[in-house]
Amino acid sequence: MVSDRKLTFSMGLLLGSISYVLIIAFGQMSVGHKGKIQDHEHHHLRAPNREDSFKPSEAEGVALRESVRVYCFVLGEPKYRGYQAILRGTWTKHCDKAEFYGSESSPLSNRKANDTWLQVRETYKYVFEKYGSIYNWFFLARPTTFAVIENLKYFLLRKNATQPLYLGHTVKYGDLEYVALEGGIVLSTESMKRLDGALRSENCRDRSMIWKLSEDMQLAVCLKYAGVRAENAEDSEGRDVFNTKPIERLIQEAISNNPQHVVEGCCSDMAVTFNGLTPQKMEVMMYGVYRLRAFGHHFNDTLVFLPPSGSDND
Ligand SMILES: *[C@@H]1O[C@H](CO)[C@@H](O)[C@H](O)[C@H]1NC(C)=O
Ligand SMILES: *[C@@H]1O[C@H](CO)[C@@H](O)[C@H](O)[C@H]1NC(C)=O
Ligand SMILES: *[C@@H]1O[C@H](CO)[C@@H](O)[C@H](O)[C@H]1NC(C)=O
Repeated sequence: MVSDRKLTFSMGLLLGSISYVLIIAFGQMSVGHKGKIQDHEHHHLRAPNREDSFKPSEAEGVALRESVRVYCFVLGEPKYRGYQAILRGTWTKHCDKAEFYGSESSPLSNRKANDTWLQVRETYKYVFEKYGSIYNWFFLARPTTFAVIENLKYFLLRKNATQPLYLGHTVKYGDLEYVALEGGIVLSTESMKRLDGALRSENCRDRSMIWKLSEDMQLAVCLKYAGVRAENAEDSEGRDVFNTKPIERLIQEAISNNPQHVVEGCCSDMAVTFNGLTPQKMEVMMYGVYRLRAFGHHFNDTLVFLPPSGSDND
C-alpha cells in the first residue's frame, strides 16, 4: 500500500515536471513566435530604429513632418453612433483630417447598412475621389479602435506613398494574407489609386456567395489583383504595432505566456492601435498616452508631429 502510494506520488511528480517543462517550452515557443521567428513567415515593414532615430535639422524636420499627411476614416454600423462624439474629442483630432462613415450623418448615404463589403467599397471610392490627391496615407479604423497618430506618422516616415503599400496587423487565411480591420488598415496613395481601379473591375465583385469572406479579406483579395500585398507593421524589434485587441487583453496574455517579460512581451512602445475599447476606455487611453507624465522628465524628440492648426488638442 505504502509503496504503491509512493509510486503514485513519484509518478505524479514526474508527470508534473514533464508538463511543467512542456508548458515552459510551449510558452517560449509561442512568445518567440510572436516575436522575431515570424520574420520568415510573412511580409512585414519595420518602423525606423529608435537608437539611430534621426536628429533632423529644423528645416529637415519641417519637411519630414509635412511629408506624412494622414486622412482617417472610421467606418461603423449605426449602432456605434454613440462613439462618434468621443472619437471626435479624442484620438481622431490628431489626424490631418478625420471623417465618420456608416451612420446616418455620414457623407455617404447608408443604403445597405448590412452589406459591409459594399459599404467598404463605396467608402474607399468616395474617399479616393475626394481626398486622393490631398493626403498621402489613408487610415481606416473601426469605432472601437484607439490610435496614436503620432506613432503612425513616425512609422510612415521615409516610407514612400507613391509605392503600393498596404499595412497593419496581418492575418493568414489559407493562401491569403490580409490586414485585419480590427487593427486598422493603412493604404498609401498608390494603393488607393490601384484599389479604385480594381473596384471598378470584375475582380472586386462580392465573393461571399461562394465563400463567406469578411470585408477585410475581400479587400485583400481585391488589392492582390491590383498587385498590392499586405504587410505586417512592426517596430524595430519585430513587435506588432497594430493590435486587434485592447491593452489589458494583451497584458493578460503576456502574463500567462511570458511572466518574466510582461510588458516587453506584450506591447510595443511605438504601438499605433489597440481595438475593442469602450468610449470610457478611450478617455483612459488619452490620459495614459497624452497627459500622464513623471514630473521633471521630458521627452526630447527633435521631430514633433503637430496636430492640425486650430484643433483643440491634448
Ligand atoms: C439586408 O437587410 C435587408 C432588409 O433590411 C434584407 O432584406 C436583406 O436580406 C439583408 N441582406 C443581408 C446580406 O443580410
Ligand atoms: C518613391 O517611389 C517612386 C516610384 O516607385 C520613385 O520614383 C521615387 O523615386 C521614390 N521616392 C523616394 C524618395 O524614394
Ligand atoms: C535634448 O536634445 C538636445 C539636442 O539633441 C541635447 O543637447 C540635450 O542635452 C537633450 N536633453 C536631454 C535632457 O536629453
